[in-house]
Amino acid sequence: MTGFNRELFVNRTILVAGAGKGIGLACAQMAAAHGGNVIAVARTKADLDALAKQYPDNITSWVMDVTSEEFFARVKSLPVLHGLVNNAGLNRIGPMEEQPNENIDAVIDLNIRTLYKISQAAIAPMKRADCAAIVNMSSQMGFVGSPNRTLYCMSKHAVEGVTKAMAVELAEHDIRVNTVAPTFVLTPMTKPMFEDEDFKKFVYDMIPLGRLGKVEDIANSCTFLLSDLASMITGTSIKVDGGWTAR
Ligand SMILES: NC(=O)c1ccc[n+]([C@@H]2O[C@H](COP(=O)([O-])OP(=O)(O)OC[C@H]3O[C@@H](n4cnc5c(N)ncnc54)[C@H](OP(=O)(O)O)[C@@H]3O)[C@@H](O)[C@H]2O)c1
Repeated sequence: MTGFNRELFVNRTILVAGAGKGIGLACAQMAAAHGGNVIAVARTKADLDALAKQYPDNITSWVMDVTSEEFFARVKSLPVLHGLVNNAGLNRIGPMEEQPNENIDAVIDLNIRTLYKISQAAIAPMKRADCAAIVNMSSQMGFVGSPNRTLYCMSKHAVEGVTKAMAVELAEHDIRVNTVAPTFVLTPMTKPMFEDEDFKKFVYDMIPLGRLGKVEDIANSCTFLLSDLASMITGTSIKVDGGWTAR
């Protein structure tokens, strides 16, 4: 029997798009801690330097914008790729009636188009691996709606949909594709939201387990889905939501 061990990703190359902070940082740290050769991508060099200092033998830093053609080309030219975490994403909160084009375009560009483009670029190096896995960072908002979050929900529902479609299309290349769908996790993205006491109460009331997610909770599921322990799992999602969507 095999299970989680520190050598889970030895001789595996895993790229984490959006690896400098928050959930992506935890996913990169966990992949490195399990022996992977991790390509960590973000625009802030200082974040990646700190990560590389933690795992000097395992981290390769790419200081790049993951929405750029230059980045897609670099992914495509990798000799081999075993794992991809499409984690970079953003939110623009507000009533649907008031969302400006700029917000709509920004959310669609990063959360949907970029995820598609990175995955598209990853296919060639993943075909050169014996088997490979993509984890798309979704959200509980990929399953439900929530006030002021219709734009974000639209993008994460799209992530759930494209994940199933990719899983079906890429299965013939032994590329598995799944999502991790977190509830609220305290990260630089969500920190300002929790300064609003009413919002904080709303969130805690919605989570049956009564706490926010921790970045480690999300990284654990991501690690599992990237690994061979999930070798029969594709086209689905692990909701790390403390029960939010079960209500
Ligand atoms: N936090 C939550 O409660 C929560 C819940 C459900 C789902 N999620 C999802 O989880 C993912 C990560 O969320 P998070 O809260 O950890 O976000 P975060 O705190 O904003 O961190 C995002 C990371 O991605 C990088 N990034 C963003 N845009 C990039 C770009 N264009 N090019 C390169 N790197 C980029 C950022 O670094 P730079 O800015 O330095 O580039 C940063 O390292 C997102 O897809 C989000 O929708 C989050």
